[in-house]
Amino acid sequence: MKKLYIETLGCQMNKSDSERIAGILSHFGYVETENEKEADLLIVNTCSIRQLAEDKAYSKLGVWGKRKKSKPDLKIAICGCVAQQDKEKISKRAPYVDLIFGTHNIYELPQIISRIENNEKICAITNKAYECNQNDFKIIRKDSVNAWIPIIEGCNNFCTYCVVPFTRGRERSRKPEEILQEAENIIKEGFKEITLLGQNVDSYGKDLKDENITLANLLRKLNSLKGDFRIRFVTSYPSDITDDLIDAVDECNKVCKYFHIPMQSGNSHILKEMNRHYTKGQYYEIVSKIRKRFPDVAITSDFIAGFPGETEEEFQDTLNAIEELELDYSNTAAYSPREFTKAGKMTDKFLSEEIKYERLERLNEKNREVCLKSNEKFIGKVLKVLIESKTEKNGIITLNSRADNNKIVHFSDISKNIGDFAFVKINKAQTWCLYGEPVE
Ligand code: SAH
Ligand code: SF4
Ligand code: F3S
Repeated sequence: MKKLYIETLGCQMNKSDSERIAGILSHFGYVETENEKEADLLIVNTCSIRQLAEDKAYSKLGVWGKRKKSKPDLKIAICGCVAQQDKEKISKRAPYVDLIFGTHNIYELPQIISRIENNEKICAITNKAYECNQNDFKIIRKDSVNAWIPIIEGCNNFCTYCVVPFTRGRERSRKPEEILQEAENIIKEGFKEITLLGQNVDSYGKDLKDENITLANLLRKLNSLKGDFRIRFVTSYPSDITDDLIDAVDECNKVCKYFHIPMQSGNSHILKEMNRHYTKGQYYEIVSKIRKRFPDVAITSDFIAGFPGETEEEFQDTLNAIEELELDYSNTAAYSPREFTKAGKMTDKFLSEEIKYERLERLNEKNREVCLKSNEKFIGKVLKVLIESKTEKNGIITLNSRADNNKIVHFSDISKNIGDFAFVKINKAQTWCLYGEPVE
């Protein structure tokens, strides 16, 4: 038995990749450990969305490189977005690395792993994804309630700030039959929630050249599978949300009324500079259409503070958008210049770190304020939740759950367990969560 430790630094897609890597390697005798010190194979699955994430990857390698000096048989691997971005450059910076594999090469591991064990050093990075049926391999999922299914990987949008098209390549949709098979397996295994993943999940099917293969139709198919489970999908690109998708969300009782639609900026000029394919007005229309259709929907977003050249007035439009759109939650970040990207070359327009972080602070403050307001709207309402975990304090057991609209809800009910659905009447709201009482 060989021990494997994976450190995962990125988004949900990255975490899902780690579950698949652990699954593939389990066919070759590797068992995952939580204790990196006892591992025979260390893998860091990296993210390069911002400089800080990239720095974390290299500092992890540094720590492991030192360990290898006293444990020469230790194998060290790096994969994910930094690997795809930096390729063989990594071995110059960290010569002790045994394996570098890209986001397109995960399913090549069965051909690679024994060579690494025989002390070969390998850099497996291609621009074309290795094709196979992912259901031929185990997936070692970390969660017992929610299961991720990547349905489309890559991105064709080339937002000027973003490295993802360079690290994940062009959009590639998985075949609907393969996704349905994975979903059936998940339901059989007892999972209660399926989250469909894609950098632009609403582009699903565009590359498969069959107009019937769309996210909307995939949701309809998944919804018709037997079992008590619910379905989510992230991340949506604003202008790719079709009326048919909204109809499908409405028709399908298992599909959560929740949309994650990053706006990035509330100003149309900055959106243009970012190469986002919508204006502020168009984004407002999409939000209003969704809110009209689903009264208890939650809409969450991402915003970047301090994009190159952003003026104070333009930034104000972002603050106003969060408030006017009553966004339920927003991920926020200060702009970080990335290699290969267009915005990364706009050096003469870069804002100082001080301005970026001061804006980020105001963005976070606005986010907290609007989140609380949005949560308060649910006081007195009954939400359907799925219990994800339990915590015990002073003999009182609290159930930590998530409503269909993705709000975190805490409540107590001794008759319920992790993985159960429940109805909860909300009686208290805080910035990041709701509290309530179970109802029948
Ligand atoms: N595909 C999704 C987002 C993927 S990246 C979309 O189109 O919205 C996740 C988030 O990271 C982005 O929404 C963006 O807000 C943030 N991000 C991406 N590149 C960034 C950069 N260079 N600096 C700061 N934040 C960035
Ligand atoms: Fe990045 Fe834009 Fe693609 Fe999202 S849509 S992954 S932000 S390039
Ligand atoms: Fe990071 Fe790659 Fe995900 S850059 S956000 S791990 S797609």
